[in-house]
Amino acid sequence: MIVSPSILNADYLNLERDIKQLERAGADAIHIDIMDGRFVQNITWGPPTVSAIRKVTNLPLEVHLMIDKPEYNIKHYLEAGADIIIIHQESTIFLRKNLQAIKQAKVQAGVALKLETPVETIVHCLDLIDVVLLITCDEGFGGQVFHPQALYKISQIVKLREMRHLNFSIEVDGGIGIETGKQCKEAGAGRLVAGSFVFNHRKKNEAIQALKSL
Ligand code: DX5
Ligand code: ZN
Repeated sequence: MIVSPSILNADYLNLERDIKQLERAGADAIHIDIMDGRFVQNITWGPPTVSAIRKVTNLPLEVHLMIDKPEYNIKHYLEAGADIIIIHQESTIFLRKNLQAIKQAKVQAGVALKLETPVETIVHCLDLIDVVLLITCDEGFGGQVFHPQALYKISQIVKLREMRHLNFSIEVDGGIGIETGKQCKEAGAGRLVAGSFVFNHRKKNEAIQALKSL
């Protein structure tokens, strides 16, 4: 299982320290939630913070853009050194164009779906997608509860992937811990994002290793 800890629950004045701890603890990537106060209520960081993080770790940076109209900003996150850029289906009317822009820069492209957004809404661009991220909680904040109805969406996206002979990854984000991570794995997810589970754990390495070995 690939584990990508979210730094939403990190200590923002000690991001470098926390990211290095995640690296030592065996994280496979760093999940960075970019929130604009519009697409979601919360506000986090922007491209300068992603550039700064790029300088202190070699781990892949997974940038989850929870922002309206990402077409205005994708370029800046590409320049900042993102390895995976995930945009929301609900945030743009230019989904394919945006994914193409990410792919042209040789960066992995992902599409995220809010809990209430059906998987059918992305069938027209599955060919451009490296990662489908299913939000499994009420988005925008860390520490929200996992919604089990997301498990059905995982199985639906697994079916679509099989039918079309594609090989994108399926990632889940929100309320992931041991039990919910296990359920998602059984439903077909291959990547877990975990924020509060990792940061609330006394030992980050134990939390990450436990998720990795699910
Ligand atoms: C939520 C964000 C998540 C968040 C997950 O909308 O996209 O990445 O950090 O946090 P936990 O694991 O605490 O639910
Ligand atoms: Zn996220």
